[in-house]
Amino acid sequence: MSGVQRFIDTNLGRFRAELHDFLRIPSVSADPQYDQDTRAAAEWLSSQLTVAGLKSTVFETPGHPIVLAEKQTGDPNAPTVLIYGHYDVQPPDPLELWHSPPFEPSERDGRIYGRGSADDKGQLYMHVKALEAYHATGTELPVNVVLIAEGEEEVGSPNLVPFVLEHADKLACDVVLISDTGMYAEGIPSIGFSLRGLAYFEIHVHGANSDLHSGEFGGAVANPANMLARIIASLHRDDGSVAIEGFYDNVLAWDTETLEEIASLPHSDDEFSKALDLDQLTGEDGYETLERLWIRPTCDVCGFLSGYTGEGAKTVLPNHAMAKVSFRLVPDQNPDRIYQLLKAHISSLDLPGVRVDVLDLHGGRPWRTSVEGPAFEAASEALEEAFGTKPVPMGGGGSIPIVIEFEEKLDANALLVGFSLPGCNLHAPNEWFPIDNYEKGIGALARLYHKLVKVENSS
Ligand code: BES
Ligand code: MN
Ligand code: MN
Repeated sequence: MSGVQRFIDTNLGRFRAELHDFLRIPSVSADPQYDQDTRAAAEWLSSQLTVAGLKSTVFETPGHPIVLAEKQTGDPNAPTVLIYGHYDVQPPDPLELWHSPPFEPSERDGRIYGRGSADDKGQLYMHVKALEAYHATGTELPVNVVLIAEGEEEVGSPNLVPFVLEHADKLACDVVLISDTGMYAEGIPSIGFSLRGLAYFEIHVHGANSDLHSGEFGGAVANPANMLARIIASLHRDDGSVAIEGFYDNVLAWDTETLEEIASLPHSDDEFSKALDLDQLTGEDGYETLERLWIRPTCDVCGFLSGYTGEGAKTVLPNHAMAKVSFRLVPDQNPDRIYQLLKAHISSLDLPGVRVDVLDLHGGRPWRTSVEGPAFEAASEALEEAFGTKPVPMGGGGSIPIVIEFEEKLDANALLVGFSLPGCNLHAPNEWFPIDNYEKGIGALARLYHKLVKVENSS
């Protein structure tokens, strides 16, 4: 292990420069304009995996390619670790808010700025470098490693579940290791115990067959924008809870041990709101902020569109209004059921003179695990050794829908060890990743592979 760590320490400058190369490839999965770049990112990653001593293949899918690499250890009894990450990134817009261009990585104040630095190229590449450190120093890997990287995580992983089913034999493993989440705070390494699910819809409200003069027709003709506002206003009660009948039916109680862990984390509502320039926080009554963020479901309008939004005033009665509405889900809520409940809710409203369509864009199920067990312990030891601080268990407010699918389809537990920080601007302008976490994290992962030898080999 000491040779591996020494290799990491002496090669960090190169590891950073290579991450810059990775970040320079604009692999924006949502925008077809970047399809060639997204493919180039897959090819680049695959060649780096080869350098790290793995056998790597780029698989075609109906969408963006999947990179699958593997390395067997000599020990027939060794467990297999499946490492998952994604090489695609979110669109960089709005470009004018970036202090340096999103695809021209730059280092400032101990941070690597660039789209994908934290989500998830930086974190995925840390695994590649930890693996390279074993290979380059001739240190036998203590576990078998299979690494799968997809290019469609940010668009809901449409081709990954079919791929997992088709290639289940190649993906057989004892634990699924994922670095695509964050640390609780700077200097406090963390292990994830949950992820929220997601149900994402578009609500379209249609009125007359054309936009109309709001003086000539207003008052006698339904206004889709007014009606959409009525729908949106109906989604929450005054106490901050979601007002859709049946919404909370499948919400499971959380175990007291995890609730106590959450309560014992250092948290200040004041600091949290100050960092966001807010005078107060708000949410569902009866829950603390960390509970609201991690273990309670939500409903949020992510965008809406209707009528005239240009300069000055235009007196128009629009004939169409649209809102994008997302629900974050917790165990055991199911996105398909939420779709049915939302449609029933909207049908129950009084919305005269308009037609409403609800489109199901994508969804994913929530995931949770217990804060103990051999994989959790292994991660805890590795992180403490590398960061000098005992890790805390942490919930995930975001979603990685494939996690529960991996667990069910491969019959293995997931282990979430992530290194981004709450302020890293994921999906936002000026995304960054802390150089300190990049350096310590590579060492932590190298140690973790070693400690995962103790997870049960189920084959
Ligand atoms: N890495 C994030 C998920 C995440 C971020 C989990 C922070 C926990 C903490 C992932 O890339 C992501 O952004 N997921 C999307 C869902 C996807 C279906 C588009 C999300 O959470 O919005
Ligand atoms: Mn991610
Ligand atoms: Mn993301």
